[in-house]
Amino acid sequence: TTLHQIAVIPGDGIGREVIEPAMEVLEQAARQWDFTLAWTTYPWSCAYYTEHGHMMPGDGLDRLAESDAIFLGAVGDPSVADDVSLWGLLIPIRRAFDQYVNLRPLRLLRGIDSPLESLGGAVDLLVVRENSEGEYSEAGGRLFAGTSMETAIQESVFTRRGIERIMRYAFDRAEERTGRLVSATKSNGIIHTMPLWDQICGEIGSERPRITVDSYHIDALAAYFVQRPETLDVVVASNLFGDILSDLGAAIVGGIGLAPSANVNPDRTYPSMFEPVHGSAPDIANLGVANPIGQIWTGALMLEHLGHPEAGAAVVAALEDVLADSDIRTQDLGGSASTAEFTRAVLDALRSKRPAFVNHAD
Ligand code: NAD
Ligand code: IPM
Ligand code: MN
Repeated sequence: TTLHQIAVIPGDGIGREVIEPAMEVLEQAARQWDFTLAWTTYPWSCAYYTEHGHMMPGDGLDRLAESDAIFLGAVGDPSVADDVSLWGLLIPIRRAFDQYVNLRPLRLLRGIDSPLESLGGAVDLLVVRENSEGEYSEAGGRLFAGTSMETAIQESVFTRRGIERIMRYAFDRAEERTGRLVSATKSNGIIHTMPLWDQICGEIGSERPRITVDSYHIDALAAYFVQRPETLDVVVASNLFGDILSDLGAAIVGGIGLAPSANVNPDRTYPSMFEPVHGSAPDIANLGVANPIGQIWTGALMLEHLGHPEAGAAVVAALEDVLADSDIRTQDLGGSASTAEFTRAVLDALRSKRPAFVNHAD
């Protein structure tokens, strides 16, 4: 059977609580669909930093490079400054492995009530977030610390190469879906970088006449996410705009505990990294109540990426079965189930989804 090497980084807070449940679900999918996941777990986290003085060892990236995919929970703890934990682990992985696409599908699952009541299950959109440059640049820093002139500067860096590749990727996804693409912009003369973004979007659009492109200012688009999300399909956005839209989008489909995400290296030169949209949620850590849906769904994206789309779809269908056919849900969704109880229900639902070609004796 096919063997996939998976590097696992549970991280901090609820990252450590949702990763094992998700691994259990993926393990079961692997058994049912007849492939093997070989996990190697790395303890790199804020706790690791406190002990060793760095978030990962010097050869950390080399070790991860050996894997077929990276499965990450979340990183961040109040005892360590976020810029230390993020620039020490998460961002170097995204950058070193040229994971320039951050895919964030948003779909209202059966059984989930959107806070936007009128939607009736219609939200199904894909945020394609630029993941390598833009507002998340390394250019800048803090000046005059401790004086009345204290200043912080960060230059946005948008390159033609960076914009072209994310646009092409987004146009391709739009072509496979409904042929509609929305570009998030802010080009009304205020933000210098966005006219270049729009120009390149237009250039690629003229090569792709089958795709309908609308450009919306990010502020107006945020309102459309709430007012008429059912009219949106693929949304391409810069690093920061995409970050904000993905939490907003998650909120309209049930909450950020549900939203999956994939940091993809489309050329497959390097491993891609799969981590949910949410963070380490220090406010609910160690209580065993975190919603594992985001992590499990993220795992389904990983299975798809590894060449097992049917297994991935079955995992998402199992999540939907639990939500639609029972009232088992975690606190964030108004229920009282623990992370473990919800996961058990998902495992039961998945068990009934046998691939047609396998003859199971039991
Ligand atoms: P967060 O996503 O951790 O939490 C925001 C809110 O959503 C909290 O109230 C939290 O309880 C809730 N929430 C999040 N996930 C949930 C889940 N699965 N089930 C139930 N409730 C859930 O965002 P934050 O508070 O802005 O950040 C906390 C820490 O996480 C920071 O250190 C931040 O840097 C880090 N962070 C890491 C990642 C990552 O590693 N990929 C992503 C985002 C934030
Ligand atoms: C996310 C997170 C990260 C981001 C942070 C933790 C750097 O919010 O994955 O959405 O902004 O990319
Ligand atoms: Mn985010």
